[in-house]
Amino acid sequence: MRTETPVAVKLQDYAPYPFTLNGVELHFDLGAETTIVKASLSVTPHGTGPMHLDGEALKLRYIAVAEGGGAAKPLDLADFTADARGLTLHTPPQGPFVLETEVEISPESNTALSGLYLSGGRLCTQCEAEGFRRITYYPDRPDVMSSFRVRMVGPKDAFPILLSNGTPGTSGELPGGRHFAEWIDPHKKPAYLFALCAGDYDVLRDTFTTMSGKTVDLGIHVDKGDAPRAAWAMDSLKRSMRWDEETYGREYDLGVFNIVAVRDFNFGAMENKGLNIFNSAYVLADEATATDADFEAIESIVAHEYFHNWTGNRITCRDWFQLCLKEGLTVFRDQNFSADMRSRPVQRIKDVIRLRARQFGEDAGPLAHAVRPDTYGAIDNLYTATVYEKGAELIGMLRRMIGPETYRKGMDLYFERHDGQAVTIEDFYACFETVTGRDLSAFRRWYAQAGTPEVRVAETWDAATATLTVTFAQATPPTPGQTVKHPVPIPLLCAVLDGKGGHAAANGASAEPFLHGLDGATGTLALRLPPGSPRPMLSVGRDFSAPVRLTRALSRDERIALVKAETDAFNTWDGLQTLIKEELLALSDGSQTNPNLDLVEAIANAVRGAMHDPAFAALLTRLPEVGELFLERQPADPVALAAARQKLQGSLCALLAGEIAATLSAPAPAPYHPGAEQASVRALRTAFIGLLGAAATPGAAETLSGLYEKAPNMTESLATLRALTFTPGEAKAKALAHFEALWTDNPLVMDKWFSVQASTGTAEDVKRLIAHPAFDLKNPNRVRAVIAAFAMQNLAAFHAPDGSGYRAVEATILAADKVNPALGARLLTAFEQWRLLEPRAGAEAQACLKRLIEAGLSENAMDIAGRALGKDG
Ligand code: BES
Ligand code: ZN
Repeated sequence: MRTETPVAVKLQDYAPYPFTLNGVELHFDLGAETTIVKASLSVTPHGTGPMHLDGEALKLRYIAVAEGGGAAKPLDLADFTADARGLTLHTPPQGPFVLETEVEISPESNTALSGLYLSGGRLCTQCEAEGFRRITYYPDRPDVMSSFRVRMVGPKDAFPILLSNGTPGTSGELPGGRHFAEWIDPHKKPAYLFALCAGDYDVLRDTFTTMSGKTVDLGIHVDKGDAPRAAWAMDSLKRSMRWDEETYGREYDLGVFNIVAVRDFNFGAMENKGLNIFNSAYVLADEATATDADFEAIESIVAHEYFHNWTGNRITCRDWFQLCLKEGLTVFRDQNFSADMRSRPVQRIKDVIRLRARQFGEDAGPLAHAVRPDTYGAIDNLYTATVYEKGAELIGMLRRMIGPETYRKGMDLYFERHDGQAVTIEDFYACFETVTGRDLSAFRRWYAQAGTPEVRVAETWDAATATLTVTFAQATPPTPGQTVKHPVPIPLLCAVLDGKGGHAAANGASAEPFLHGLDGATGTLALRLPPGSPRPMLSVGRDFSAPVRLTRALSRDERIALVKAETDAFNTWDGLQTLIKEELLALSDGSQTNPNLDLVEAIANAVRGAMHDPAFAALLTRLPEVGELFLERQPADPVALAAARQKLQGSLCALLAGEIAATLSAPAPAPYHPGAEQASVRALRTAFIGLLGAAATPGAAETLSGLYEKAPNMTESLATLRALTFTPGEAKAKALAHFEALWTDNPLVMDKWFSVQASTGTAEDVKRLIAHPAFDLKNPNRVRAVIAAFAMQNLAAFHAPDGSGYRAVEATILAADKVNPALGARLLTAFEQWRLLEPRAGAEAQACLKRLIEAGLSENAMDIAGRALGKDG
């Protein structure tokens, strides 16, 4: 069996829907096996053409039209066509009418987790991007907005709590142990923001008073017994609500805000109006079961989904090509929230690590696409690092170029001008053109052009005139389907470093950092210093002011000197990362046998100098991941790169032995608090624990076992467990068995147990994990904990030259794709780097992709596999 790739959708084909929906009434008769959905759509036609409604996996039981306030008349079979993609009314009335339909759906057989499905005996929905069409016939596109009234009816014992968007209307008892509830959402919304949840939950409740004094009832709905573990999510929600008022002047607009946690969920979380639905992994946390990274993720995801209320819900996307309009902007907003809650420079570094690992990787492979592409295959596959992370960077550049006050004015205008609308990137930028009076069309090129620009920086010093002349040249490598590239405006934040920890003044201006714009293919910057000045150094791309790859031809010694002179936290960290990358390449290709001591000393000194800011110090100990190194030089040899990494970690561990011993023998902060201050201390502890494991010195296993046994929280249990997986001997197996026995009843913690092994072990380990009785193809968290952890975090084993890594997961990817195409497609993106690999692994990866396609993939997965293989596949 072979599946065809999905038909491409094109931006240029956009046409408005020729009907307006004035209101929607939905009636659900809920059952796990069968749910009956009655929809009543109040329609005004514009024109005389047929009416198309999307619909998938629906059983139509009734269809009727009511005209001019009259009674509904069932349609004749000749009046409409229903097929696997939807319903067409051949000649709808020419004046306003009401369309009534009744369909049957089956939540319990919905394993795709799109539409209405069953998770842990409870009903829930996921409608973005195109899930609503699996609930009822509807124009399932974001530019069709309507108000909704929802009535749910069902057995009270199975579904005691009935939730939907908006605020509750009437509710009550019905005969036969049944009950009903109505919810009314006054705000017009597209169907992708619809949500329904029904089941038995424990609820953590709280209230929030908005800036204008309104009270909002907050509820987080979780599995029985889990309510205390939702406290951090609730705290994060209240801080998010306050932050959006203070930072963007945005107030919440309903009297109720609910969150529901579900165990089976394709993504992290979803921003449905007034009823966010979350993967339980991003709601539930306490010190015993969640790591600091989990707490941090919960804080940012709760914020992200909450911030969508204005950037996404009140103002939504005209079509899915505009996805970055809500996602890139909302990621930018959640990143700034996190920066305000924690440390801004540390947050910036983490955001850049993520961008480089995921988005630069995407740009370097066959799946590269523009932030706003002009065509796509399967819509689920457009939720990419490029749309999200690069999309966020573009907003960050805009803000930097126009300044924070003007940015805020532009946002205010956007909210004022477009509230209640479905808009485009052009509409968004028009607001900023109004407030700046500038033409931003050159900047908008960033949205259309795929690929990561490379900026080469070179300097010459003329002592006679005390002038540092800097030249810049930009170029973007070709990407699939887009071979010709144009220059883009690149804002580079610079400073002239005096080498004594400060800045020098140039061109008679102040010594403050300044923004240099590189608009064309090349540019020059002449920095004239006071006569007789010593040669200064240039700090460029401070705070990662543009999503580009900066290259400078500097020697190791020059780079070390630059790191010492830097005054920008990001550049200090990044200067070391560049040095480490060069070192790892030299160690991996055999041109160097042992780590250079000057370099290791420079890292160790930087760490020692940052001990007062432990989270930053922790980042300084971090070595670039193997995947990041793929981008530096090809063909990439993951096995050699992983070995080089471990060698360098060993040297660093040796030089920092004193600091490591002192840090780890100090007591962990107590009592536990998940906030930034303590998390920062623990970040350095766990970084050192990681170094101990990687170095695997004699005695490391014993030290780590000791730390594992007395670990006071999950952050340290997991860090020591992970570190132990690199050590030889019995200790590793003993700790893994202990951890499994202890947490066997907690699925979220068991996900960690699976993932720690998959991300560090061998192909054989992965086969054993897949065969484990608790492995569950229907639970995306569990599948990702094994397959994605192995294929995306354990690159040396996944890309083993003999193909054993691919073979270990091939059948499971195929099986997961049959159950859940969105999940199957996501797992397949692990193959996107195959052309960068050394030839043996590359050939095995290609062969594996071909076998998968031959075996038959879903449309979603085929979209990825086909592009990954390329035309000449
Ligand atoms: N709107 C998305 C959820 C979504 C993702 C729907 C993919 C359909 C397909 C939500 O706002 C989101 O972006 N969630 C992220 C987490 C966020 C913090 C970046 C996710 O689920 O990964
Ligand atoms: Zn989002």
